[in-house]
Amino acid sequence: MNEPESDRIVRTVASTQSEMTEIILPNDTNTLGNLLGGRLMHFIDLTGAMAAYRHSRTHVVTAAMDHIDFIRPVRLGDLLTLKSSVNRAFTSSMEVGVKVWAENTRTGGIVHVASAYLVFVAVDEHGRLQNVPQLLPETPDEIRRHADALRRREHRERENARRHRERLATAEQDATYQGKP
Ligand SMILES: CC(C)(COP(=O)(O)OP(=O)(O)OC[C@H]1O[C@@H](n2cnc3c(N)ncnc32)[C@H](O)[C@@H]1OP(=O)(O)O)[C@@H](O)C(=O)NCCC(=O)NCCS
Repeated sequence: MNEPESDRIVRTVASTQSEMTEIILPNDTNTLGNLLGGRLMHFIDLTGAMAAYRHSRTHVVTAAMDHIDFIRPVRLGDLLTLKSSVNRAFTSSMEVGVKVWAENTRTGGIVHVASAYLVFVAVDEHGRLQNVPQLLPETPDEIRRHADALRRREHRERENARRHRERLATAEQDATYQGKP
């Protein structure tokens, strides 16, 4: 866990790229015949984890799914394709981006339906944090995503700290309230 930065293995973004395709069946849909949001999030989590596994080569847990846009509905019978790659590796955590497309099997039309950012944390079989390899962004898009991931991490940390303060304040108010007759 504490090896010097210079000794860490380096992996490329390309080596983390992962892809999954699903056909949307009745069990995946709501009463309108559209893919359930929770089911889509499950597919996103799985595809994101594949990229995190390929980068870390150890167990990973999802720490956060912090940004997801559902742009268009996915219909019963569509083919869903999800692609993921690691945007940036930190110490034990990695930000992974996932992009999702739906293909109409009759027309062949393909539309972008969702995008999400997730954070996975590498752990060993006992749940202890593990250092992850460094990530080498190579293309202009990878370099941009690498920089954006750092800004999102800073934003995430500020938000987590704010929520923590709110929880403490609420717990204090509850304790005061419960102390009254
Ligand atoms: C994620 C988890 C391992 C972090 O453990 P922890 O003891 O809080 O660890 P730390 O606070 O030392 O943080 C470890 C790393 O996780 C990151 N992290 C922790 N909580 C995070 C969050 N909410 N969002 C984003 N990153 C987070 C930290 O930034 C840190 O990254 P770094 O090592 O790259 O700097 C722990 O909270 C956990 O096990 N959560 C449950 C995970 C789970 O069950 N997921 C669903 C099923 S897979």
